[in-house]
Amino acid sequence: MRPTTAAVVLCGLAAANALAVRKCCKRGMGPGDNGTCVARPPGSAPFEAPPVFRAPGVLASTAPPITILYGRPQCPPDFDLFHLYNRTDGDGPIYLMEDGSLLILKHHEWVNSSMYCLESVDGLVDPVICMESFDQEYEEEMETAMNVYPVGMLVSLPFLLATFFVYGLVPELRNFYGMTVMSHVSNLFIAYLILVVVQLGTDVLPMIVCISFGEPF
Ligand SMILES: *[C@@H]1O[C@H](CO)[C@@H](O)[C@H](O)[C@H]1NC(C)=O
Ligand SMILES: *[C@@H]1O[C@H](CO)[C@@H](O)[C@H](O)[C@H]1NC(C)=O
Ligand SMILES: *[C@@H]1O[C@H](CO)[C@@H](O)[C@H](O)[C@H]1NC(C)=O
Repeated sequence: MRPTTAAVVLCGLAAANALAVRKCCKRGMGPGDNGTCVARPPGSAPFEAPPVFRAPGVLASTAPPITILYGRPQCPPDFDLFHLYNRTDGDGPIYLMEDGSLLILKHHEWVNSSMYCLESVDGLVDPVICMESFDQEYEEEMETAMNVYPVGMLVSLPFLLATFFVYGLVPELRNFYGMTVMSHVSNLFIAYLILVVVQLGTDVLPMIVCISFGEPF
Protein backbone atom coordinates (compact mmCIF):
# COMPACT_ATOMS: atom_id res chain seq x y z
CA MET A 1 0.00 0.00 0.00
CA ARG A 2 1.42 3.37 -0.98
CA PRO A 3 1.60 5.94 1.84
CA THR A 4 -0.65 8.31 -0.09
CA THR A 5 -3.51 5.86 -0.03
CA ALA A 6 -3.26 5.14 3.68
CA ALA A 7 -6.78 5.55 4.95
CA VAL A 8 -7.50 6.39 8.54
CA VAL A 9 -11.00 5.37 9.40
CA LEU A 10 -12.49 7.23 12.32
CA CYS A 11 -16.07 6.68 13.29
CA GLY A 12 -17.51 9.85 11.76
CA LEU A 13 -15.05 12.02 13.70
CA ALA A 14 -12.72 13.86 11.33
CA ALA A 15 -9.21 14.29 12.67
CA ALA A 16 -7.73 17.79 12.55
CA ASN A 17 -6.82 18.71 8.93
CA ALA A 18 -7.81 15.22 7.80
CA LEU A 19 -9.51 14.83 4.49
CA ALA A 20 -13.00 13.41 4.54
CA VAL A 21 -13.88 11.30 1.54
CA ARG A 22 -17.24 9.74 1.03
CA LYS A 23 -17.65 6.14 -0.10
CA CYS A 24 -21.02 5.63 -1.79
CA CYS A 25 -21.81 2.24 -0.28
CA LYS A 26 -21.31 1.04 3.28
CA ARG A 27 -18.13 -0.72 4.27
CA GLY A 28 -17.87 -4.13 2.61
CA MET A 29 -20.57 -3.20 0.10
CA GLY A 30 -20.15 -2.35 -3.55
CA PRO A 31 -22.35 -1.15 -6.40
CA GLY A 32 -25.06 -3.59 -7.47
CA ASP A 33 -26.78 -3.87 -10.82
CA ASN A 34 -29.61 -1.42 -10.32
CA GLY A 35 -28.07 1.48 -8.42
CA THR A 36 -28.28 -0.26 -5.05
CA CYS A 37 -25.39 -1.43 -2.90
CA VAL A 38 -24.72 -5.14 -2.55
CA ALA A 39 -22.21 -7.08 -0.47
CA ARG A 40 -18.88 -7.36 -2.24
CA PRO A 41 -18.04 -10.86 -3.32
CA PRO A 42 -15.64 -12.48 -0.86
CA GLY A 43 -12.00 -12.05 -1.87
CA SER A 44 -12.59 -8.90 -3.93
CA ALA A 45 -10.26 -5.97 -3.32
CA PRO A 46 -11.41 -3.65 -0.53
CA PHE A 47 -12.09 0.03 -1.21
CA GLU A 48 -9.00 2.21 -1.05
CA ALA A 49 -9.13 6.00 -1.11
CA PRO A 50 -7.35 7.40 -4.19
CA PRO A 51 -4.12 9.42 -3.90
CA VAL A 52 -4.36 13.12 -3.06
CA PHE A 53 -3.16 15.67 -5.61
CA ARG A 54 -1.80 19.21 -5.16
CA ALA A 55 -2.20 20.07 -8.85
CA PRO A 56 -3.27 18.09 -11.92
CA GLY A 57 -0.86 15.17 -12.12
CA VAL A 58 1.19 16.42 -9.14
CA LEU A 59 0.79 14.38 -5.98
CA ALA A 60 0.49 16.21 -2.66
CA SER A 61 3.87 16.15 -0.91
CA THR A 62 2.43 15.29 2.48
CA ALA A 63 -0.85 13.51 2.08
CA PRO A 64 -3.27 14.22 4.91
CA PRO A 65 -4.83 11.23 6.62
CA ILE A 66 -8.10 10.31 4.97
CA THR A 67 -11.32 9.82 6.87
CA ILE A 68 -13.83 7.70 5.06
CA LEU A 69 -17.47 8.60 5.46
CA TYR A 70 -20.08 6.16 4.22
CA GLY A 71 -23.19 6.82 2.19
CA ARG A 72 -24.19 8.88 -0.80
CA PRO A 73 -24.16 12.68 -0.57
CA GLN A 74 -27.39 14.62 -0.12
CA CYS A 75 -27.77 16.32 -3.49
CA PRO A 76 -29.56 19.70 -3.65
CA PRO A 77 -33.10 19.66 -5.10
CA ASP A 78 -33.16 19.14 -8.90
CA PHE A 79 -29.80 17.40 -8.78
CA ASP A 80 -29.29 13.73 -9.52
CA LEU A 81 -26.37 11.41 -9.00
CA PHE A 82 -24.32 10.58 -12.08
CA HIS A 83 -21.57 8.02 -12.42
CA LEU A 84 -18.37 9.37 -13.98
CA TYR A 85 -15.65 7.22 -15.49
CA ASN A 86 -12.06 7.99 -14.51
CA ARG A 87 -10.53 6.84 -17.80
CA THR A 88 -9.08 8.99 -20.53
CA ASP A 89 -11.78 7.71 -22.90
CA GLY A 90 -14.43 8.62 -20.30
CA ASP A 91 -14.42 11.68 -18.04
CA GLY A 92 -10.86 11.19 -16.75
CA PRO A 93 -8.46 12.07 -15.44
CA ILE A 94 -10.29 13.01 -12.27
CA TYR A 95 -8.18 14.04 -9.28
CA LEU A 96 -8.88 14.08 -5.56
CA MET A 97 -7.47 17.44 -4.46
CA GLU A 98 -6.01 18.51 -1.11
CA ASP A 99 -9.17 20.36 -0.05
CA GLY A 100 -11.27 17.24 -0.59
CA SER A 101 -12.82 18.41 -3.83
CA LEU A 102 -12.62 16.54 -7.11
CA LEU A 103 -11.07 18.12 -10.17
CA ILE A 104 -12.53 16.90 -13.45
CA LEU A 105 -9.89 18.16 -15.83
CA LYS A 106 -11.80 17.34 -19.00
CA HIS A 107 -14.85 19.40 -18.00
CA HIS A 108 -12.81 22.12 -16.18
CA GLU A 109 -14.97 21.42 -13.18
CA TRP A 110 -14.37 21.30 -9.43
CA VAL A 111 -16.77 19.20 -7.41
CA ASN A 112 -17.16 20.28 -3.81
CA SER A 113 -16.54 17.53 -1.25
CA SER A 114 -20.21 17.61 -0.23
CA MET A 115 -21.30 16.83 -3.80
CA TYR A 116 -19.77 13.45 -4.59
CA CYS A 117 -18.94 10.00 -3.33
CA LEU A 118 -16.45 7.42 -4.56
CA GLU A 119 -16.84 3.75 -5.21
CA SER A 120 -14.46 1.20 -6.56
CA VAL A 121 -15.48 -0.93 -9.49
CA ASP A 122 -13.10 -3.73 -10.47
CA GLY A 123 -10.28 -2.08 -8.50
CA LEU A 124 -10.75 1.30 -10.21
CA VAL A 125 -12.16 4.19 -8.19
CA ASP A 126 -14.97 6.08 -9.93
CA PRO A 127 -16.81 9.11 -8.61
CA VAL A 128 -20.57 9.52 -8.46
CA ILE A 129 -21.39 13.22 -8.43
CA CYS A 130 -24.43 15.43 -7.92
CA MET A 131 -25.32 17.13 -11.19
CA GLU A 132 -28.28 19.22 -12.19
CA SER A 133 -30.87 16.93 -13.74
CA PHE A 134 -31.76 17.36 -17.35
CA ASP A 135 -34.63 19.70 -17.99
CA GLN A 136 -37.64 17.54 -18.82
CA GLU A 137 -39.51 20.38 -20.55
CA TYR A 138 -36.57 21.22 -22.79
CA GLU A 139 -36.21 17.57 -23.76
CA GLU A 140 -39.88 17.43 -24.71
CA GLU A 141 -39.65 20.64 -26.75
CA MET A 142 -36.69 19.24 -28.64
CA GLU A 143 -38.64 16.07 -29.29
CA THR A 144 -41.58 18.03 -30.72
CA ALA A 145 -39.28 20.17 -32.86
CA MET A 146 -37.62 17.07 -34.23
CA ASN A 147 -41.04 15.78 -35.31
CA VAL A 148 -42.42 19.06 -36.70
CA TYR A 149 -39.42 20.47 -38.61
CA PRO A 150 -39.07 17.51 -40.98
CA VAL A 151 -42.73 17.82 -41.97
CA GLY A 152 -42.24 21.50 -42.86
CA MET A 153 -39.15 20.66 -44.86
CA LEU A 154 -40.92 17.79 -46.59
CA VAL A 155 -43.64 20.24 -47.73
CA SER A 156 -40.98 22.66 -49.03
CA LEU A 157 -39.22 20.06 -51.16
CA PRO A 158 -41.60 19.99 -54.19
CA PHE A 159 -41.68 23.80 -54.29
CA LEU A 160 -37.89 24.00 -54.29
CA LEU A 161 -37.86 21.47 -57.12
CA ALA A 162 -40.55 23.45 -59.02
CA THR A 163 -38.54 26.67 -58.63
CA PHE A 164 -35.46 24.90 -59.96
CA PHE A 165 -37.28 23.68 -63.08
CA VAL A 166 -39.02 26.97 -63.75
CA TYR A 167 -35.67 28.77 -63.75
CA GLY A 168 -34.11 26.02 -65.83
CA LEU A 169 -36.88 25.86 -68.47
CA VAL A 170 -37.95 29.47 -69.00
CA PRO A 171 -35.35 31.03 -71.35
CA GLU A 172 -35.88 34.59 -70.05
CA LEU A 173 -34.85 33.43 -66.58
CA ARG A 174 -31.63 31.70 -67.64
CA ASN A 175 -29.34 34.58 -66.79
CA PHE A 176 -26.72 35.04 -64.07
CA TYR A 177 -29.33 35.81 -61.46
CA GLY A 178 -31.34 32.75 -62.50
CA MET A 179 -28.27 30.53 -62.19
CA THR A 180 -27.62 31.66 -58.60
CA VAL A 181 -31.26 31.01 -57.71
CA MET A 182 -30.99 27.52 -59.22
CA SER A 183 -27.82 26.80 -57.24
CA HIS A 184 -29.44 28.11 -54.11
CA VAL A 185 -32.66 26.09 -54.37
CA SER A 186 -30.86 22.92 -55.43
CA ASN A 187 -28.56 23.24 -52.41
CA LEU A 188 -31.54 23.78 -50.12
CA PHE A 189 -33.29 20.81 -51.70
CA ILE A 190 -30.37 18.47 -51.01
CA ALA A 191 -29.82 19.84 -47.50
CA TYR A 192 -33.50 19.52 -46.54
CA LEU A 193 -33.72 16.08 -48.06
CA ILE A 194 -30.77 14.85 -46.01
CA LEU A 195 -32.11 16.53 -42.85
CA VAL A 196 -35.54 14.98 -43.33
CA VAL A 197 -34.08 11.53 -43.88
CA VAL A 198 -31.82 11.83 -40.84
CA GLN A 199 -34.43 13.34 -38.51
CA LEU A 200 -37.20 10.92 -39.40
CA GLY A 201 -35.03 7.89 -39.97
CA THR A 202 -32.47 7.97 -37.14
CA ASP A 203 -34.07 4.96 -35.49
CA VAL A 204 -34.32 2.78 -38.59
CA LEU A 205 -31.37 3.79 -40.78
CA PRO A 206 -28.11 1.88 -40.61
CA MET A 207 -25.47 3.79 -38.61
CA ILE A 208 -23.28 4.25 -41.67
CA VAL A 209 -26.03 6.19 -43.48
CA CYS A 210 -26.53 8.51 -40.48
CA ILE A 211 -22.80 9.13 -40.20
CA SER A 212 -22.34 9.84 -43.89
CA PHE A 213 -25.27 12.27 -43.69
CA GLY A 214 -23.54 14.07 -40.83
CA GLU A 215 -25.54 12.82 -37.85
CA PRO A 216 -23.00 11.05 -35.62
CA PHE A 217 -25.47 9.54 -33.14
C1 LIG B 1 -32.10 -4.24 -7.01
O1 LIG B 1 -31.47 -5.48 -6.92
C2 LIG B 1 -31.60 -6.10 -5.65
C3 LIG B 1 -30.75 -7.35 -5.65
O2 LIG B 1 -30.52 -7.86 -6.94
C4 LIG B 1 -33.08 -6.38 -5.39
O3 LIG B 1 -33.24 -6.98 -4.11
C5 LIG B 1 -33.84 -5.06 -5.40
O4 LIG B 1 -35.22 -5.30 -5.27
C6 LIG B 1 -33.59 -4.34 -6.72
N1 LIG B 1 -34.20 -3.02 -6.62
C7 LIG B 1 -34.86 -2.45 -7.63
C8 LIG B 1 -35.37 -1.07 -7.39
O5 LIG B 1 -35.04 -3.02 -8.70
C1 LIG C 1 -18.49 23.09 -0.23
O1 LIG C 1 -19.84 23.51 -0.03
C2 LIG C 1 -20.13 23.87 1.30
C3 LIG C 1 -21.63 24.14 1.40
O2 LIG C 1 -22.13 24.74 0.25
C4 LIG C 1 -19.29 25.08 1.68
O3 LIG C 1 -19.56 25.45 3.03
C5 LIG C 1 -17.82 24.72 1.54
O4 LIG C 1 -17.03 25.85 1.78
C6 LIG C 1 -17.53 24.20 0.14
N1 LIG C 1 -16.16 23.68 0.12
C7 LIG C 1 -15.29 24.01 -0.83
C8 LIG C 1 -13.96 23.37 -0.73
O5 LIG C 1 -15.55 24.79 -1.73
C1 LIG D 1 -8.09 8.80 -11.73
O1 LIG D 1 -7.11 8.22 -12.56
C2 LIG D 1 -5.85 8.84 -12.44
C3 LIG D 1 -4.94 8.21 -13.48
O2 LIG D 1 -5.03 6.83 -13.46
C4 LIG D 1 -5.34 8.66 -10.99
O3 LIG D 1 -4.07 9.27 -10.87
C5 LIG D 1 -6.33 9.33 -10.05
O4 LIG D 1 -5.94 9.13 -8.71
C6 LIG D 1 -7.72 8.74 -10.26
N1 LIG D 1 -8.68 9.52 -9.50
C7 LIG D 1 -9.50 8.97 -8.62
C8 LIG D 1 -10.46 9.90 -7.94
O5 LIG D 1 -9.49 7.79 -8.38
